[in-house]
Amino acid sequence: MADQPVQALILAAGKGTRMKSPKAKVLHEALGLPLLGHVLRTVDAIGAHPVGVVVGHQADEVTAAFEGRGPFIRQDPPLGTGHAVQIAREHIGAHPDHSLLVLSGDVPLLREETLRRLLATHSASGAAATLLTANLRTPGAYGRVLRDAEGSVRAIVEAKDASPSQRTVGEINVGVYVFDVPALLSVLDQLRPQNAQGEYYLTDVIGLLASAGRRVAAAATDDEAEGRGVNTLAELAAVTRVLRERRVEELMTAGVVVEDPATTTVGLDVRVEAGATLRPFTLLEGRTSVAAGAVIGPFARLVDSEVAMGAQILDHCLLRQCIVGAGASIGPFAHLRPETVIANRAKVGNFVELKKTHLGEGSKVPHLSYVGDATLGPGVNVGAGAITCNYDGVHKHPTRIGAGAFIGSNTTLVAPVTVGDGAYVAAGSAITEDVPAGALAVGRTRQVVKAGWAVARRAKGAPGPKH
Ligand code: UD1
Ligand code: CA
Repeated sequence: MADQPVQALILAAGKGTRMKSPKAKVLHEALGLPLLGHVLRTVDAIGAHPVGVVVGHQADEVTAAFEGRGPFIRQDPPLGTGHAVQIAREHIGAHPDHSLLVLSGDVPLLREETLRRLLATHSASGAAATLLTANLRTPGAYGRVLRDAEGSVRAIVEAKDASPSQRTVGEINVGVYVFDVPALLSVLDQLRPQNAQGEYYLTDVIGLLASAGRRVAAAATDDEAEGRGVNTLAELAAVTRVLRERRVEELMTAGVVVEDPATTTVGLDVRVEAGATLRPFTLLEGRTSVAAGAVIGPFARLVDSEVAMGAQILDHCLLRQCIVGAGASIGPFAHLRPETVIANRAKVGNFVELKKTHLGEGSKVPHLSYVGDATLGPGVNVGAGAITCNYDGVHKHPTRIGAGAFIGSNTTLVAPVTVGDGAYVAAGSAITEDVPAGALAVGRTRQVVKAGWAVARRAKGAPGPKH
């Protein structure tokens, strides 16, 4: 049978009561992406066209967080998974020739390959419905898959409605289905809320189809963790761990050195080249990219940042929206704030904060500095403790430091100000006026030495230094 185009319906109207959280369940994040985002990503990956996301509880928040990813179909009040599909009837019916994939918004571990396999089983069997199942040693609260003597799926019974013997069945319903649309629509109105939860169960569609003589197929996951739904914050942490492990595994397979997979977190949109090294307790988030030969960490966090070949980000650094050039060295203990660009081979040392600053090639800010809204040419040296005063309480002002300039330790550069190429600024200066290229600026009071002053004071009875 030829593969049919696939439309996907995602059920996400449930309240998520057991999360004990004011936030909608599907908006909780795992590995930097909301749960629903994971499901939408997988649906995109298989090329299914999203027919809709059923929302109810906190519908506005969910809709806003996923603007443009709808249509969002409101189910208010949510009366069960079957009711959710009934609400979406018109959307589904618009494409009766598409297979309909139905899945929950809270199953972030579901893999693209598994969905493909489920769809392949569905088209190969020509079934009216195909469900994804898993075999669990402790099937807990999941719906149980009931089969007849020939092994054909007859029905799904919810744990709350199951008899003690049905409850011993280890094959469970993951909650992911593919339906033949006309077959689904032919029984959808027959659902009745006569069950322990007083809900319209989508699972009853399976029994209705089987009773009507329609074939129901099943595909089992080999990775039982995959179908895990998130219902509590503990389960959220557990799926986050699995996602993290998978991602790190993928990177290692591709040639990235990950020294301690258990403490390394790499987001789904992060790119790391083969030959890069991630040291323990490293977090790479957002659209970060790390090139070959770069070494990150330990204890580094990079958000939306770009690190070029051979650069190193040493212990305990935070980088957000910045670019680090090839062979540059950052940290330990550096904070690079948005719009900072570090040119090749430049060095930023310990306890340095840079904001919206361009540090030229080979330039150095090695110790205890704050540099903001500044442009530093190549070969600049900024001494320990030197800072820019870029903010006058109302406006931000720029500082410019020319190529090869030397800024003495503990200099205060009061912006707007420019230090010319090759100029020197004496240590401890407060620079309020531009320094021309090649000049020396000294902006401090001259030292006064009073010979014998301390000796005389002690002679008058002042306490002396302890020996
Ligand atoms: C459901 C299945 C169960 C399966 C389990 C897998 C039913 C009746 N049972 O149970 O067989 O083992 O999933 O995790 O379907 N939702 C709506 N509208 C509603 C109710 C739920 O959109 O009115 C959404 C929820 O947001 C959730 C999904 O449907 O994303 C599943 O609902 P949930 O209440 O979690 O179903 P389970 O009791 O887990
Ligand atoms: Ca669930």
